[in-house]
Amino acid sequence: MQLRERGYTDPKEALPHGGILFGGKDLKLEPLDSPLIYLDNAATAWPKPESVYRFMIDFYRGTGVNPGRSGFDLALEAGSLLDNLRKRLTRFFGGDEDAPERLCFGYNATDALNLAIPGLLAPGDHVITTNLEHNSVIRPINHLVRDGGVEATFVPFDGAGFVDPGGIAKAIRPNTTLVVVNHGSNVTGTVQPVKEIGAICREKGVTFLVDTAQTAGAIPIDMKEMNIDVLVFTGHKCLMGSMGLGGLSVRKHVEIRQVRSGGTGVRSADPYHLEEYPWRLEYGTPNMVGVAALWAGQDWLESRGLENIHAGEMKLAAKLVDGLRAIPAVRLYCCESLANHLPTITMNLDGFDAADLGTMLDVDHNIATRTGLHCAPLAHGQLGTVAIHGAVRFSIGPFNTEEHIDAAIRGVAEIARWKAGRKVAPNVTAASARLA
Ligand SMILES: Cc1ncc(COP(=O)(O)O)c(C=O)c1O
Repeated sequence: MQLRERGYTDPKEALPHGGILFGGKDLKLEPLDSPLIYLDNAATAWPKPESVYRFMIDFYRGTGVNPGRSGFDLALEAGSLLDNLRKRLTRFFGGDEDAPERLCFGYNATDALNLAIPGLLAPGDHVITTNLEHNSVIRPINHLVRDGGVEATFVPFDGAGFVDPGGIAKAIRPNTTLVVVNHGSNVTGTVQPVKEIGAICREKGVTFLVDTAQTAGAIPIDMKEMNIDVLVFTGHKCLMGSMGLGGLSVRKHVEIRQVRSGGTGVRSADPYHLEEYPWRLEYGTPNMVGVAALWAGQDWLESRGLENIHAGEMKLAAKLVDGLRAIPAVRLYCCESLANHLPTITMNLDGFDAADLGTMLDVDHNIATRTGLHCAPLAHGQLGTVAIHGAVRFSIGPFNTEEHIDAAIRGVAEIARWKAGRKVAPNVTAASARLA
């Protein structure tokens, strides 16, 4: 393994067996050609393109000073990457290009949602959201319902995993001020009709907030065309950036109340936090390593083309669905059709607890999936999977191959055969009879 090429560490620190020294401890790293089959890209895309790792390190080593705090050249250079990324992402999301300062950075989607939701709701307001949401939406809303005088309605999805725009329209009340919808579900993989929902919100004068944690960098998004007022993103998934940087893009006609305060490097004598964007929603030193990663991620996405990447992943998803469908005990959720779908396929094996299946795939087949409730308890509540501890989610990324999918299908088939065999195996039956 060439650690320097992978950009992990200085070769001096490389250990003969391929580990690295970290804080005096020997951390064994799997080489990139590791036998691990990573199908957990909905949790975080991994690996990242080599160019992203390199640019993060090069930028931080060469320009890792605090932007916006000082006037020396290097600080200005760091600041210019930050501002150029605001412009680039505003264009990427179809936001207001004449107001790039309204693209504000935070730690991740959760952080941005915790700025946007409390900053848009006030006591007496009603918010509509869906059963497909992640806890990063559900919990901030529940806290406001419990402690902040806000009312909420959770709209269910249909059997195919889609939220009916008509259901949202029906839930609107005179005091509804906000609709929050997950663009792509991290459980079912279904992509919601946000344009139609946005049109309803626009007509009713309700602010429309979209969580694009699963779709930003996966499928094209245009805030203006899709009637999105506030868009939340995270950098470490399909945008191919790093963990620790996400944010939100806010259209010009929307105001989000500032709910935190602190240093901005600007007008330091002012006793209160700045009203102007981006400072209104930004606090403290930004994650410049994450900014560099997201910048390089944009370069990589542009060089490959979003549509090409998505088409390749969906081809693998279709292969996976076909293969899984042929296994009798497999129960697939919301992937009857893969139109308006992400390459995220969720399933269970009859008679299995989801956690057990995930553990067997991991331990016996070296396949990394995500099991459990996927931080989306209402979605699993509606799917009826809470009692078996959720489901097993395969999520495909740009570095997965046909061989990975074959291995996943083989793994599930083998486990299903083992389970079926166990039920009827004479020695097991005889043993149970003796025990009975
Ligand atoms: C739909 C959805 N929303 C929000 C989040 C939260 O993203 P982050 O952990 O980057 O804050 C996730 C993460 O998996 C997600 O899938």
